[in-house]
Amino acid sequence: MQITKSVYLVSGANYDLLGNVYAIRGEKSVALVDSGEPCAAEVIEASLRRWGMGDLPVTRLFLTHGHADHAGCAAYFQKKGAKLVVAEGDAHWLREGGFRADRTPYGEGWTYPPCEADAVFSERSAFAFEDFRLTAYPLPGHTDGSSFFEMEDVGEQTGGRPGRTVLFTGDTFSFDREIDDHVLLCWKGSPDYDPVKLRKSFEFAAQEFSPDVILSGHGMPLLANGNAVIRAAARKFLVAYR
Ligand SMILES: [Fe+2]
Repeated sequence: MQITKSVYLVSGANYDLLGNVYAIRGEKSVALVDSGEPCAAEVIEASLRRWGMGDLPVTRLFLTHGHADHAGCAAYFQKKGAKLVVAEGDAHWLREGGFRADRTPYGEGWTYPPCEADAVFSERSAFAFEDFRLTAYPLPGHTDGSSFFEMEDVGEQTGGRPGRTVLFTGDTFSFDREIDDHVLLCWKGSPDYDPVKLRKSFEFAAQEFSPDVILSGHGMPLLANGNAVIRAAARKFLVAYR
């Protein structure tokens, strides 16, 4: 599904899989945001071919966090040449390949081929991908290394007007209906889930971001009222937190 001029949804719920995967189309290469479940590679590559990106190498993989439905194909794309970017707090999930059976009740169904991140960040950081510039924000809570990535779709610039701003939010919140306050809060079962950190992350996000487009780790793209939706998510969390 094409979402903006340069951003596509290439795997996830609409493909009967967990974990949305987004592709950013450059001139000569593709960047992915998240990589879906370990079994998602075939679907991702079929989607890239469908949208004319089959011949472009995937050179970057930005991970919103290290859960198996988002980092599941990280090792696969790294072997094919992609550089993996993740927050420092979740680098260990990549190294361990998800939830080891001896550490969580979820067993091997939540594991994936392990790998080592190529770049980690622990504070707001900028990453270049061709003409795009992605700003990474560590926003812990769902996991210790959960992050947002913000970028302008520079492919949409016309006559001095900027392209739309796109915010990738991972699993911190999502939505499955086009109603501004219909937000879904994240899964709380990760061993590193931290509601105190998540509260701070929501407070920061509600102040900081007014994106044109929100692309979350599950559910559907949101193309309007970005800041209102983030504030609605923060309010919902604060009520649930009490
Ligand atoms: Fe998650």
